[in-house]
Amino acid sequence: MALSLTIVSTKGGVGKTTLAANLAALLADIGQRVLLVDADPQPTLSSYYPITERAAGGLTRLIVDATPDGTISRTNIPNLDIVTSDDPEGRLQNWILHTPDGRVRLRHLLRRLEGRYDLILVDTQGAVGPLQDAAVLAADLLVSPIPPEILSAREFARGTITMLERLKPMAALGAPVGPLRGIIYRLDRTRDARAIRRPPAFSSGAI
Ligand SMILES: Nc1ncnc2c1ncn2[C@@H]1O[C@H](COP(=O)(O)OP(=O)(O)OP(=O)(O)O)[C@@H](O)[C@H]1O
Ligand SMILES: [Mg+2]
Repeated sequence: MALSLTIVSTKGGVGKTTLAANLAALLADIGQRVLLVDADPQPTLSSYYPITERAAGGLTRLIVDATPDGTISRTNIPNLDIVTSDDPEGRLQNWILHTPDGRVRLRHLLRRLEGRYDLILVDTQGAVGPLQDAAVLAADLLVSPIPPEILSAREFARGTITMLERLKPMAALGAPVGPLRGIIYRLDRTRDARAIRRPPAFSSGAI
């Protein structure tokens, strides 16, 4: 069974796409069969790795036509496939909003691919919306990158946690919100970061 992992944050620019791309390639390199899904209308992840075989469609086709056929492209990395983002005008958001099963459709479609992959990794946009909801509800596990600075930490506590709380009732419809792991992954060269790294003034030099 494949593990579905969604990288999510309500804050933009925290490193979601970079984490998705690196994690996917690393796992593909050690032999895992990995599918990336670019659920951001700004298709950064879709152009991260060269595409060697481009499918006719991408995420819009997957969700609207409700079939994976013709939606999975191959990258130049063995074992690493991708469903590209094909919605530059953001129409998919509205479609999901106005379709009765819109928010849970991606979850059911990805479950149909489970035999083909060990890991399905979904990258999302850094803003609340129906597409982000669909990506969250598709996940067994949620991962949120948090740069170690106060504004990102506050937004994680306020925005991301609030968004997950809002989606919790979807469990009654068979789409429980998966557990969330925060990843503090970057130490800036700032005074704050230096202060965090520095041992306390009262510590002995041995620490
Ligand atoms: N671990 C890291 N160390 C240093 N810089 C990083 C790291 N991860 C990402 N970055 C840089 O931070 C910037 C934002 O990264 P990225 O595009 O992955 O964020 P994002 O959360 O996907 O943004 P968006 O919300 O716009 O989709 C990029 O310039 C990227 O190179
Ligand atoms: Mg991104």
